[in-house]
Amino acid sequence: MNRTLSLISLAVVVLSLCACRPSMKDRLAQSLARADQQLSAQLETVTDSTQFPRTTKDGRLVTTRRNDWTEGFYPGCLWYMYELTGEEKWKQAATRWTEALEPLKTLTNHHDIGFLMYCSFGNAYRLTGNEHYKEVLVEAARSLCTRFNPHTGCIESWNYRKAWNGKDEWFYPVIIDNMMNLELLYFAAKVTGDTLFTHVANTHAATTARNHFRPDYSCYHVVDYDEQTGAVLHRATCQGFTDNSAWARGQAWAIYGFTMAYRETGRKDFLDVAVRAADFWLNHPRLPEDGIPYWDFNAGEEGYAPDWDYDPHDYPVIPRDASAAAITASAFLELADYVPAGKKYRTEAEHILNSLSSPEYLAEAGTNANFILKHSVGSIPHGSEIDVPLVYADYYFLEALTRMR
Ligand code: GLY
Repeated sequence: MNRTLSLISLAVVVLSLCACRPSMKDRLAQSLARADQQLSAQLETVTDSTQFPRTTKDGRLVTTRRNDWTEGFYPGCLWYMYELTGEEKWKQAATRWTEALEPLKTLTNHHDIGFLMYCSFGNAYRLTGNEHYKEVLVEAARSLCTRFNPHTGCIESWNYRKAWNGKDEWFYPVIIDNMMNLELLYFAAKVTGDTLFTHVANTHAATTARNHFRPDYSCYHVVDYDEQTGAVLHRATCQGFTDNSAWARGQAWAIYGFTMAYRETGRKDFLDVAVRAADFWLNHPRLPEDGIPYWDFNAGEEGYAPDWDYDPHDYPVIPRDASAAAITASAFLELADYVPAGKKYRTEAEHILNSLSSPEYLAEAGTNANFILKHSVGSIPHGSEIDVPLVYADYYFLEALTRMR
């Protein structure tokens, strides 16, 4: 297929399949065409399949090498491009960057094997049916289960470490992000029939539902457990504004994770958590008009006292986090189908996607190191990745565009 034809077919996919306002259709078609331009150009600059685009520093592309938590998102983006366009070039590239991750199937030193393997091999298996990919995923799920402890009733996210401030100790830290890794376990349960996977995933989700949420259903980022008794030792943040604040991406992981857990189990208690966490987001008085959250709902707010080196003068404008918005848009599109009052989630998802498709967030062709979206935040307390593109923002944006169908 030549390039003009492929761009036309891309636009046709969106125009014909999305049931939304005409102006919205145009914007989404434009976003898909832009994604095609950007990721095509990025593919030309990254030729080594052991390097995975992640973000930018001083405007230049930053890649990681199978040593972080984000490598699965790049092949995941390529698989979504293949799904959206049917173009062989995306499949070939997606296959290369996916297969380069196979050595990580035995990774047991942190919990992110779910992100790493399911976004890559999970999409690869879904779109190709290649049985080897299924075996890789099952092995990865077994690796993840090694971090489950029946006393705590959850999967350890990080090994023992000092908190970001270098003072507090975390013995058995579990972060809300970990909900996302359960999708790998539910997949393994389905294809093997081994109930261990379901047991671990359901127990982790139930423990998280019990311990990670405040009465208003905002969530803590980190919960630290005593690994002998299962008692909660600390509730804290690592990447949020303060321990008692609502870090936007953490809230997004919670909404997405519990929506997915409901899909996989039909458990009403998981759906309730998803809905309450979603309503916290939707009804929050500090959610900006365009639906793209500040990096933390409480950033800079009175009553929230950061114990990191925070100077409000450094942030005359509070940074937004497009990655949290993209994750939430994708989750809202799914949640909308599970509850009678679901229309409000779909409407908000469309609103978010409309904003992300505007010039404020959608990169101009050839800029942004060829990532699709601008204005995400990695971790402000660590002073890293502030107001930059992030590969996982692009991944969930493409997933949401795919779900719009
Ligand atoms: N899982 C790490 C993050 O969301 O930044």
